[in-house]
Amino acid sequence: MNHSTTLIEHPLIQHKLSLMRQKDTSTAKFRQLLEEISMLLAYEVTRELPLESVSIETPLARMDAPMLAGKKLVLISIMRAGQGILDGILKLIPSARVGHIGLYRDPRTLVPVEYYFKVPHDVHEREMLIVDPMIATGNSAIAAVHRLKETQPLSIKFVCLLAAPEGIASFHAEHPDVPIFTAAIDDKLDQHGYILPGLGDAGDRMFGTQ
Ligand code: URA
Repeated sequence: MNHSTTLIEHPLIQHKLSLMRQKDTSTAKFRQLLEEISMLLAYEVTRELPLESVSIETPLARMDAPMLAGKKLVLISIMRAGQGILDGILKLIPSARVGHIGLYRDPRTLVPVEYYFKVPHDVHEREMLIVDPMIATGNSAIAAVHRLKETQPLSIKFVCLLAAPEGIASFHAEHPDVPIFTAAIDDKLDQHGYILPGLGDAGDRMFGTQ
């Protein structure tokens, strides 16, 4: 059990995230920045992927060249805001498989309810990256991981842009075996469960639905 949270502090990520946070950043720019940051996050998150030696031919000679071993990753987007990170990572890893999970919070019980679930059939042979820009209360992330663990992937990592300390604590209390990779850990949650200082509602800013 590792309880790990990795803060990815690359200067390009930090700069782009500050632009995303600004309230006057347009929908188009927000989406573009999220895609760019997601590629940089993916670069860090995939550092440990196993390689194997494959015999190839260059125009000049035969060589044993390193290639990714085994089946490619499966990326799981938590709808709807996960789509932005998904698009960025897919630019870098186009052959990854993709699944979606949709959860909404029952307004009466506040319990997350699943409304959509579709993942590739061979998830149990793949390493899984679950993506959602925000870990706020952590409730939807926790519920999504519970559901996705049922599919028995080889491993699970959770990739986000921003996390609140409260959400990280709840997440690791429930899933100590799932590492979180995030570009920032903000101060706290407000009374509506939004991250402060945060960037507002990631889905609304990405899709212009405010
Ligand atoms: N989801 C968001 O999009 N923003 C927050 O601040 C918290 C949850």
